[in-house]
Amino acid sequence: MKKNRLQQTLVLIKPDALKNSMTGYVLSQLSEVHCGIRFAGAKIVNVSHMMAEEHYVEHQGKPFFQALIDYLTGAAHYPDEAWKRRVIALVYHGENAIEKVRRIAGPTNPHDARETQPGSIRSLGTVVSVRDKRGKIVGERMDNLVHASADEPAAEREIKLWFKPNDIPPAMHLFDTGICQDMFSFQKGRILKNHQGDSICLLAPGDTVWTSDLDTLNTFGEGKLSDHSVKSVIVKYLINETRDSWV
Ligand code: GTP
Ligand code: MG
Repeated sequence: MKKNRLQQTLVLIKPDALKNSMTGYVLSQLSEVHCGIRFAGAKIVNVSHMMAEEHYVEHQGKPFFQALIDYLTGAAHYPDEAWKRRVIALVYHGENAIEKVRRIAGPTNPHDARETQPGSIRSLGTVVSVRDKRGKIVGERMDNLVHASADEPAAEREIKLWFKPNDIPPAMHLFDTGICQDMFSFQKGRILKNHQGDSICLLAPGDTVWTSDLDTLNTFGEGKLSDHSVKSVIVKYLINETRDSWV
């Protein structure tokens, strides 16, 4: 018999779900009564390019990557109303949370979802043609309403990408935390160990951090933001920070 595991998983209610007023439906499908899992974290995020690219880093280089970034940042659904570009990021917590949410979300492609899993969230999604500036079809985009972590390593990476430890109630922490001893700030694509002029403070001494993030920052030191593992650490500290356009 399969053993129940206490897990957390990241769910994103994507811009197409918000645009079509499906937030309530998604939350209801994932409710404690329906599937026995609970909220551990929630935030409304205007997704930066850096965040979208880090979130879908495994798909970098694939033909649909640019369309996927336009989708997650909200540019595809709100080309002229940038202020409406948002996703709702959620952490769910409970036994077998990852598999439960994936099942309720359904297959990646909404057409497959309608055929093989009617009633799943993604069966209500769509697949749209992507066109270039001259109107020629150059690919397709799967507007599938929600993201759901695929497995435990992906869930840990994604939760740490979107959430700080203190965004989650302490009794629900599944990953190790530590206390930062240094100052880290961000200025024009560089990480500094002090505050200079108009730099943005990322972490201050005494802040609670994911231990794995602290390890990454401490081995990185000062320098240019070229390393993707460092970007994946700092991107959550720049959530909803307009000055990240400096990168
Ligand atoms: P997420 O929960 O969004 O990560 O979806 P997934 O885990 O079911 O699928 P995967 O991680 O492989 O793909 C991430 C996203 O890329 C999907 O949600 C789709 O929007 C898009 N995508 C995946 N495969 C394809 C593809 O073959 N073609 C196109 N156009 N888009 C794809
Ligand atoms: Mg995935």
